[in-house]
Amino acid sequence: MKIWRGQILSAAVLAVSLFLSGCNKPPGESFATSDVIKVGEFASMTGSEATFGQSSHQGTQLAIDDLNAADGVLGKKLELHMEDDQSQAGQPATVVRKLISSDGVVAILGEVASSRSLEAAPICQENKIPMISPASTNPKVTEAGDYIFRVCFIDPFQGTVMANFSRKTLKLQNVAVLTDAKSDYSLGLAKFFKEGFVADGGKIAAEQNYSSGDKDFSAELTAIKAANPDGIFVPGYYTEVGLIALQAKQLGITVPLFGGDGWESSALVPIGGAALEGDYFSTHYSPQDTSPAVQNFVKEFKAKYNSTPDAMAALGYDSAMILAAAMKTAGTTDGAKVRDALAATKNFAGVTGKITIDANRNASKAAVILTINNGQFQYVQTVQP
Ligand code: PHE
Repeated sequence: MKIWRGQILSAAVLAVSLFLSGCNKPPGESFATSDVIKVGEFASMTGSEATFGQSSHQGTQLAIDDLNAADGVLGKKLELHMEDDQSQAGQPATVVRKLISSDGVVAILGEVASSRSLEAAPICQENKIPMISPASTNPKVTEAGDYIFRVCFIDPFQGTVMANFSRKTLKLQNVAVLTDAKSDYSLGLAKFFKEGFVADGGKIAAEQNYSSGDKDFSAELTAIKAANPDGIFVPGYYTEVGLIALQAKQLGITVPLFGGDGWESSALVPIGGAALEGDYFSTHYSPQDTSPAVQNFVKEFKAKYNSTPDAMAALGYDSAMILAAAMKTAGTTDGAKVRDALAATKNFAGVTGKITIDANRNASKAAVILTINNGQFQYVQTVQP
């Protein structure tokens, strides 16, 4: 009898503590009584794309700090719960599940890399937790469902921008394309670039593939050299792009290389060095933009982190600001209502330009083209959608 009562008592204690910790409530509603608003973020803080995660996280954290300094949202402070996915497939699903079911976040910001956003999106959708990718440009990301948004342009646009630039401005006629076959981003951008370049009257001289993590590109580059192209489009991420540029020069390839936003990293030039001089890539923003929005952001970012913010930092900042604005409009952190407010976002003045969320939950925005000059990224031009 005594034991039986003891069991009831411990079961009751367990039930109460589970209730208090919120672990047994449905996601999204469970933590409504908390005195902070928990926002989740997943980012590649370590691994092969570490600069992507570090930059986007710094921008996101700066936005959260700015919002909290201005009294937070709905009378509460925001609390950012960030998880490192180590640039590794499989990790986004694990950390996003944890953010939703054990941390109890009401929304999720992330990722930069499209393949990792694609992994997390169905989980956010299933749990009705709004997700905003700062920088994933593959069209499939937001196709995961009506809770999935992004604050950047998509690759059909980015591919066309680089097709037009290489064909009409650089006057290239015959280009090779070197694609990372393991990356949704690279595959998509290669496809949209090729379509645009051919539509502009150019020819694809050669196509070669590699896999993220590869270190030796001599076989692919030798095949490309044999096709005698007048430029090489490399829609990859900076670690491989830097090595590809180096090895191309070692093989005597002198034609320009060009690519997309995946090149943008403070680690690109340290890897590729002088081999990257005169190459080009498209991205989302330039810290050299003289608009007050950009210059104020650059100043504030430098004061906090002692470095110049890149595109991922600016997009991370915008992703958190758009989420906060949607919560204010919704008057609640309820997932469905925040989702509706996000979908209705129009002309939001972001650091990376005016953001209007379209019917497919994407943003239509200008791209900028940068070149590498004396080891620095230098602004070339802005291309409107
Ligand atoms: N757009 C890239 C992707 O979808 C990620 C990226 C964004 C990289 C911005 C650098 C700068 O994978």
